[in-house]
Amino acid sequence: MSGIIIAIDGFSACGKSTLAKQVASHFGYLFIDSGAMYRAITLYALQEGLIVGGNLDQAALIQHLPRVSLEFKNIRGQQRIYLNGQDVEDEIRKGEVLNYVSPVATIREVREKLVKEQRAMARQGAIVMDGRDIGTVVFPEAELKIYVTASLEVRTQRRFDELSKKGVYMDKNEISKNLRERDRIDTSRLESPLKKADDAIVLDNTNLTKEQQLQWIIPLVDLALSKSLS
Ligand code: CDP
Repeated sequence: MSGIIIAIDGFSACGKSTLAKQVASHFGYLFIDSGAMYRAITLYALQEGLIVGGNLDQAALIQHLPRVSLEFKNIRGQQRIYLNGQDVEDEIRKGEVLNYVSPVATIREVREKLVKEQRAMARQGAIVMDGRDIGTVVFPEAELKIYVTASLEVRTQRRFDELSKKGVYMDKNEISKNLRERDRIDTSRLESPLKKADDAIVLDNTNLTKEQQLQWIIPLVDLALSKSLS
């Protein structure tokens, strides 16, 4: 049995990755954080000096794309992303990457490269992937699609807690501003904007604990699995 494809989309910091990881671990599926791939390309652009004085040189980044190699590795049970052989999992979650990832993710050529790689990763099925366009563009045929939302206040607090745990302090107003700006770019861009797929099921997890959201999704996965087998 190969298992189904589960697509989880939604706004920044609403718990998509947490949900995706919970599902992957409960069902023994492979988890892919597509946002990490956009973040790693953004880090590459910063390292190569393709973003100078706040300006992103799109044409140069497009030219560089064949030189960007991304890989996920499982290190002691934790998925980590490698950029051209270097572990960048921690670096992509802080600093300037936060400000430039959404602009980088608007570039068509960047998306084409990553979508191709994301589809290749799902060839064997039994995968849960989270992002912005997974149910609409990457896997329109996914057997189960979830669209996650939560209030801006709760999302800000969750991102604050996540960063604090890693020893990174960021002012809550700054976090909230960054989330709002990313939401604006992600939903209004021309290439694969964030939107709910028609057949996606909405999860508003503002008032749900992690355990509650897992309990919410388990029967949906079971149902989608049994449908796929019949
Ligand atoms: O963790 P968070 O939800 O804040 O962000 P993420 O999932 O790591 O994604 C970072 C950024 O990458 C998003 O704000 C989008 O601009 C972009 N992205 C995208 O365009 N398409 C995806 N499938 C995943 C992320």
